[in-house]
Amino acid sequence: MALCREPVARQAKLNLDSVTPPANPLVSFRNVFYRLGRQDILRNLSFDVEAGETLVLLGRSGSGKTTVLKLVNGLLLPSEGEVLVEGRPTTAWNSIRLKRRIGYVIQEAGLFPHLTVAANVGLVPRLESWPQQDIDRRVVGLLTQVELPPAEFAHRYPRELSGGQRQRVGVARALAADPPLLLFDEPFGALDPMTRMELQRQFLAMRQNLGKTAIFVTHDVREALLLATRVGLVHQGRLEVLTTPSEFLLAQGDEVRAVLSCLDTKGNV
Ligand SMILES: Nc1ncnc2c1ncn2[C@@H]1O[C@H](COP(=O)(O)OP(=O)(O)O)[C@@H](O)[C@H]1O
Ligand SMILES: [Mg+2]
Repeated sequence: MALCREPVARQAKLNLDSVTPPANPLVSFRNVFYRLGRQDILRNLSFDVEAGETLVLLGRSGSGKTTVLKLVNGLLLPSEGEVLVEGRPTTAWNSIRLKRRIGYVIQEAGLFPHLTVAANVGLVPRLESWPQQDIDRRVVGLLTQVELPPAEFAHRYPRELSGGQRQRVGVARALAADPPLLLFDEPFGALDPMTRMELQRQFLAMRQNLGKTAIFVTHDVREALLLATRVGLVHQGRLEVLTTPSEFLLAQGDEVRAVLSCLDTKGNV
């Protein structure tokens, strides 16, 4: 299949050019393979994620997107090559420390059903032994930020929330200990279109206000183009295209054209 690859020089630099010298990338994949038995799940992935960017990984179900995220937070280790977070290979990180540097949001939000919204959001600060009043203040601030008025929502349980509200709590929880890096694994995939749009808008506002770095996985090409500073197309375990949203629209290759053809119909890959 014809591939459309970005020149390495362009991959390496983003929109942070002139003001400050480029910082070290927050995340780097260097010739990463991930194998299960004899099957290559990921094949020779190399890319950097710079501070402040949102890299959206787009691809069909089964292409390897979730595996990429698990390699970033150390849930999986590469079979070959290196994944670096803040310049250090994931194999050299203490696994708990690494996970605390990263907020992870998944499709079903992954909330603890027996904990209230406030307790779910305050979980990591509590594990990090913050004073209770700091935790309370942080929880109130975060719930306000994700537009869940604390007086109404703090004491509810996850089962007392809609799907969209649960995702908002999931985002608040991921932000709680102010991690430099956020991973999103199809977080809005199960939501109705209106709720999804609201959460996408909130994601963009969050990026503007907090300047967080994110890797965001989706199979929805519209969502990718809306949220990304760069889009990476994952296909059969390879990163086939890595480029800006506007250049992605012009990229060549069978899979990228297949993905883009969905824009004319229902907007999903
Ligand atoms: N624990 C596992 N055992 C066997 N195969 C797996 C396992 N986890 C993932 N895979 C396979 O790895 C491939 C990539 O999976 P995944 O990263 O979850 O894809 P995506 O998130 O893009 O849908 C798929 O073909 C999937 O079937
Ligand atoms: Mg997945």
